Amino acid sequence: MTEERYRHEIAHLARVELHTPNPDGTLWFFKDLLGMYETKREGQSVYLRGYEDPYQWSLKVTEGPEARMDHAALRTSSPEALERRIASLREGNLDGAWSDGEFGYGKTYEFDTPDGHKMALLWEVEKYQAPPQLQSKILSRASKKPLQGLPVKRIDHLNLLAREVTPVKESFERHLGMKTHERVVDGDIETGAWMSSSLLSHDVAVMRDARGARGRLHHVAFYYGIQQHTIDAAEMFRDYGIPIEAGPDRHGITQSSFLYVFEPGGNRIELFGDPGFLVLEPDFETRTWTMDQIDTGTAIGGTNLPAETYFTYGTPPIEPIPDIVRR
Ligand SMILES: [Fe+2]
Repeated sequence: MTEERYRHEIAHLARVELHTPNPDGTLWFFKDLLGMYETKREGQSVYLRGYEDPYQWSLKVTEGPEARMDHAALRTSSPEALERRIASLREGNLDGAWSDGEFGYGKTYEFDTPDGHKMALLWEVEKYQAPPQLQSKILSRASKKPLQGLPVKRIDHLNLLAREVTPVKESFERHLGMKTHERVVDGDIETGAWMSSSLLSHDVAVMRDARGARGRLHHVAFYYGIQQHTIDAAEMFRDYGIPIEAGPDRHGITQSSFLYVFEPGGNRIELFGDPGFLVLEPDFETRTWTMDQIDTGTAIGGTNLPAETYFTYGTPPIEPIPDIVRR
């Protein structure tokens, strides 16, 4: 059986938990500026969802000593797919264990990537049911578009930093059935890979950590669906003091429109204007970008992704922390 037969076993990125040393600032960013709804508050954590997120939460914000990703969870396409992916992870000797799950989700299989990122797979979810005052007349929409900030529709994707890209990429391909649609090489070194198990250009990306650290987060992305909203968001962030790292512009890699900012806790967040190209071909061949093509790959419109932050800063942060993040 070829790996191709395992495609579509991972449906999408369901949720991410971020830690923040500045919970008030982080919650102001996600609730007031990005219009996310709060669905639960417990202990040091607050659960949030965008107005088209289908489950109880897509983002959990937890107070902690430093900005970082606690974990990210992918939902499989069926209970059987979950069992098959777990069996494959176990064959590959990737450490993992079941947990009982938490608010809005059932039992969850937790494992570490070869670089140490905490990931999880799950099938069981509690679909979000809007109370009458939040029910949308648009039937495919899980709740009304809120009248605050510039609201994001839903979580989109995850970008991980890794000391070595290739082992993480290969584990996602081999055990999760993901396909790498695009990659970047610098000579013999693979410096980036964008992969999914669906028609999207990526659910997960992995990029080389220029600081040589392991298991860090580059960014979590939230989806607008309309490129103009990234320009509107840039104006909002300027006015309200959120540091903009790069954008709005369009990547050549994935062909998606982007805007990168730092939320007040220090995690990098991407606002994703549109999904970029869709991978409809079942036998799509991986595109490999080389360094002589990288300017087009990073930004078609010529935006400079700043070397002093974009390729070195991740969370948890490593000193020296750039001034733009410290503000
Ligand atoms: Fe991204």
